[in-house]
Amino acid sequence: TFVVTENCIRCKYTDCVEVCPVDCFHEGENFLVIDPQVCIDCALCVPECPASAIYADNELPEGQEMFVALNAELARVWPVLAETSEPLPDAEVWEGKGDKLQYLQR
Ligand code: SF4
Ligand code: F3S
Repeated sequence: TFVVTENCIRCKYTDCVEVCPVDCFHEGENFLVIDPQVCIDCALCVPECPASAIYADNELPEGQEMFVALNAELARVWPVLAETSEPLPDAEVWEGKGDKLQYLQR
């Protein structure tokens, strides 16, 4: 399955949502997650993310491993987002900042 990782937090560009054929993205206040039970591994969303936040679960960058469980957990409680919307207002400021897990709103 594919996994949304830390660099999405406080950006939430949502370009990924538009291309997903199975609507497996779920939306929180400042982060999106992929439902691993629904993702068909098409990889279409990966190049769409301006923050390069989406990875295959077996190719995660070092330190991002906990996002596998976090995507699965939050996909169960957050609603599906099926259409692209505006990025968060200061998305560009936060893109690439690192250490953003502490800001995750749940
Ligand atoms: Fe959707 Fe494909 Fe991305 Fe999975 S890999 S989240 S199915 S676009
Ligand atoms: Fe997040 Fe990238 Fe999608 S920032 S909302 S994973 S386009």
